[in-house]
Amino acid sequence: MFQKVKVVGKESLYLCGMNTKRIGIFASGNGSNAINIIQYFQSNGKVEIAFVLSNNKNAGVLPLAENMGVKTILLSNEDVADGHKLTEICQQEKVDLIVLAGYLRKIPDQLIHEYPERIINIHPALLPSFGGKNMYGDRVHEAVLNAGSPISGITIHFVNEHFDEGRIISQFVCELEPSETVNTVRQKVQELEQVHFPRVIESVIEQL
Ligand code: GRF
Repeated sequence: MFQKVKVVGKESLYLCGMNTKRIGIFASGNGSNAINIIQYFQSNGKVEIAFVLSNNKNAGVLPLAENMGVKTILLSNEDVADGHKLTEICQQEKVDLIVLAGYLRKIPDQLIHEYPERIINIHPALLPSFGGKNMYGDRVHEAVLNAGSPISGITIHFVNEHFDEGRIISQFVCELEPSETVNTVRQKVQELEQVHFPRVIESVIEQL
């Protein structure tokens, strides 16, 4: 909300950045996407990471985000099922956009209604294929390989009441060879995530 600005010939001043947009990141795991997003926006004066919220006390993302000076919030699975609680946190933190980065719990309907088309998820395959409840992590890549698909990729989409069914914002494709394994598909998908996810978030924010 407050932006440090440099004034030529004077000390730095803190001014209220009226146009600053705030992102709340939800993550349950390692956080390679969350950390990449934090790094991407670190030098962007118009975007602030308000917090990283997790339902998993062992999530690798929590110490990493803390080390980068980002506020972390740890909630129980019971708490994250409570739409009132999540809404209260996001409103208190004046969040403009919620980004799910490897977040493995269902988003309560109340939060979706409070933030319509303001919650973004990344899915590690090309929706509408290989999505839905319990389709996460390596299960997705296994399903892609079992189907013999010559391509995979990532889907960045808004979140609605149904798993992986919200409006698609962008998709990026990678080609698969017959010799691919879960490890190699995961690596190709993660490369796409690292390049494209922060940029797509930025383009969504610019339209808010
Ligand atoms: C990513 O592959 C993302 O597409 C999916 O969950 C994974 C999270 O990985 N939604 P990380 O925790 O960001 O490393």
